Amino acid sequence: MPETQNQHPHTKITYAILGLSCLLLIGSTTYFYMQNNSHVDELSALSQKYALAQAENNLLAETLRQEQELASSTIHELSERLSLTTEELEDIERDLRREKDKNDEFEDQIKDLAGTVSVLDKLSKTDKELLQKYSRTYFLNENFMPLKLSLIDDKYLMNPDKDAYFHAEAVDFLEDMLDAAKRAGHDIKIISAFRSFDEQRAVKANHEVVYGTGANAFSADQGYSEHQLGTTVDIVDTVTRTTSEAFANTEAYAWLLKNAHRYGFVLSYPEGNQFYIFEPWHWRFVGRSLAEDLYDDNQTFYDLEQRELDAYLIKIFD
Ligand code: DAL
Ligand code: ZN
Repeated sequence: MPETQNQHPHTKITYAILGLSCLLLIGSTTYFYMQNNSHVDELSALSQKYALAQAENNLLAETLRQEQELASSTIHELSERLSLTTEELEDIERDLRREKDKNDEFEDQIKDLAGTVSVLDKLSKTDKELLQKYSRTYFLNENFMPLKLSLIDDKYLMNPDKDAYFHAEAVDFLEDMLDAAKRAGHDIKIISAFRSFDEQRAVKANHEVVYGTGANAFSADQGYSEHQLGTTVDIVDTVTRTTSEAFANTEAYAWLLKNAHRYGFVLSYPEGNQFYIFEPWHWRFVGRSLAEDLYDDNQTFYDLEQRELDAYLIKIFD
C-alpha cells in the first residue's frame, strides 16, 4: 500500500487545518486588502477634497487680497481727494475771509464817508460865525443874518410890545433857561436880543449922543456886536429893569452864573475883560458842550483860541 494511502488520519486533519488556515489567511488577507483599498480610496477622495478646498481657499484668499488692494487703493484715492477738497475748502474759506475783511473795510470807509458827509452837511447848515470872537476883532458885514430867526415869546420880554428875535436853533435853550430861572424864583426878562447891522449902528449912535466916545466902553460898532449873530441876549430883572451893573448884585444873576452853562449860555464880558466894561446882562449862546467845559475849567469864551472854539461848532445845538 502506497504511503499516501497509508497516511495517518491525524495527518489528514492537519492538512485540512492547514488548508483551512491557508484559506482563512488568504480570505482575511483579501478582506484586509480590500478594506485597505477602500480606505485608500477614501483617503484619496479626502485628499482630493482637501486639495479642492485648499484651491478654493487660495482663490478666496486671492480674491480677498485683490479686494483689499482695491479697497485700500480706493481709500487712498478718496483720502487724496478729501485732502485736495480740504485744501480747496481752506482756500475758499481764506478767500471768503479776505473778501469779508475787504467788505468790512469798505463798509467802514462808507460809514466814515457818510459820517463825514453828515458832519459836513451839519456844518454847512450851521453859521460858522456862531463861535467867532467878535469883540473888536472880527467883523460881520451888513449883509450877515443868522440862517433862521424865531420870534421870542412875549412872556420872556421886558417890553412885550416890541418883537424880539433869536436864532431859531437856539431859542428853545433860551426859553428853557428863563423858565428854569422862573421856577427858581427869579423873574428875569430879555431887554435886547438879535440886532441887525443897521440896528446896531442906530444903538451905537444913540449911545454916542449921550456918552460920546465913552460909548465905546460898552457899545460895539456895527459889525462887531455879538447881537448880530442872533445868539446873544441882554437880560435884566424886573426890579432894575435896565442893563446896569446893579444886576450883578441880584440873586437872578447869581443863579445865571451857576446855571446858564447848562443851557449853553456864557457871560461874554465878565469883570476885568479886555474888551468892554463888566456886562453882567450880556449872555451869549455857545452850545452846552462848550459852555459846560468853560464852566468846569473856570474859563471865559475869549480865553480860548479860535481853533479850540471852532471844534465845538459841530455840536453847538446838541
Ligand atoms: N454891549 C456889547 C458890547 C455890544 O454892544 O455888543
Ligand atoms: Zn448885549
